[in-house]
Amino acid sequence: MKYNFDEIVERRNTESSKWDNVGARVGNPDALPMWVADTDFRCPQPVVDAVKARAEHMIYGYPYVTPEFRTATVNWVKKRHGWEMDPDWVMFATGIVPVFNTMVQAFTEPGDEVIIQRPVYHPFGFAVEDNDRVISDSSLVYRDGQYTIDFEDLERRASSPKAKLFFLCNPHNPVGRVWTPEELRRIADICLKHHVLVISDEIHSDLILFGHRHIPVASLDERYRMNTVTCYAPSKTFNIAGLRGSGIVVPNPEIRKKLEQQFKRNRSIQQNVFAVPAYVAAYEQCEDYLEQLLLYLESNVDFLDEFLRTKMPKIKLVRPEATYLMWLDCSETGMSGDSLANFFIHESKVAVSRGDGFGPEGAEFVRLNIGCPRATLEKGLGQILEQYRKRF
Ligand SMILES: Cc1ncc(COP(=O)(O)O)c(C=O)c1O
Repeated sequence: MKYNFDEIVERRNTESSKWDNVGARVGNPDALPMWVADTDFRCPQPVVDAVKARAEHMIYGYPYVTPEFRTATVNWVKKRHGWEMDPDWVMFATGIVPVFNTMVQAFTEPGDEVIIQRPVYHPFGFAVEDNDRVISDSSLVYRDGQYTIDFEDLERRASSPKAKLFFLCNPHNPVGRVWTPEELRRIADICLKHHVLVISDEIHSDLILFGHRHIPVASLDERYRMNTVTCYAPSKTFNIAGLRGSGIVVPNPEIRKKLEQQFKRNRSIQQNVFAVPAYVAAYEQCEDYLEQLLLYLESNVDFLDEFLRTKMPKIKLVRPEATYLMWLDCSETGMSGDSLANFFIHESKVAVSRGDGFGPEGAEFVRLNIGCPRATLEKGLGQILEQYRKRF
């Protein structure tokens, strides 16, 4: 089926967090929403059909997770990322973010250290601090427009006796890196050596751009597999985050048992009736949607890059290897933190995500969501340009 990603779909008054809650969450109800990570594209037709079929049954009693949920996950990951998993390793969860908390509770004690790599997806840090654990921030290194890992710093932090967990974001939100096999091996070796469990959040792993290749860290070696929990979901790929379904892959039976026990303690595993039918339809029937989406996103990235280079050269795109979340380096504007947020959100009326929300390393950056029709992107960039010209 051919999808039309140029179509503008009205999202106001649909209980959309991005569109209807932009005032409360970003601070300006009139700003064009380009912040939270969902897209403005309709999801694939087979998902709509699956949800409709379920809705029309008109009984919404307690559901259970069918075996198809596991096989759909296993088949998708094998096809897209070449990793052969056992269906028994896959656990259902109502989204990945709630599981961050469950994992911190299951695998660490209060006061333990959890390593993250800022600037990074902020709920990693929330899960640590809300559970009275301690963030150990091995900041990424930003040089010549590229992000890399300071492996000496990572090893120093992992060698702390209190370090128990490492949250890896692959691909990385917001900096857009797809970690290479060499980088992944070094991370995994350090974590093995110091008995630090790796949580690999691979929610963006389908959204790989410009010929890069996603590698699940757990697929690289049997030893890594036994020391890794990998998180997948069709939610970003197919724009179904509101249906709340994700697959948590835990090959090590002891680790799986610990996680299951924590889920049980929290009684936090029950899904809604639409989650599994939508999840299975997405992974089993919608690869054509993804292929078309990737081409559309690449053309949006190129458009954005060209626009910035030619019209707003003080704002630089950190070239993404994945995702529709663009990390904009605004250091040459002389603005940061509140002044930068004010420029985008209040003066330009474009609701971006503040860079410092991902850690202090992001103070001179903003994150712009380009998972939208080209016309929306052009509108947002036009508004920013108008204000840019007044200043520079
Ligand atoms: C890295 C990362 N992990 C997890 C999530 C959200 O997970 P979920 O909606 O399944 O809770 C996001 C959403 O932006 C994300 O970027």
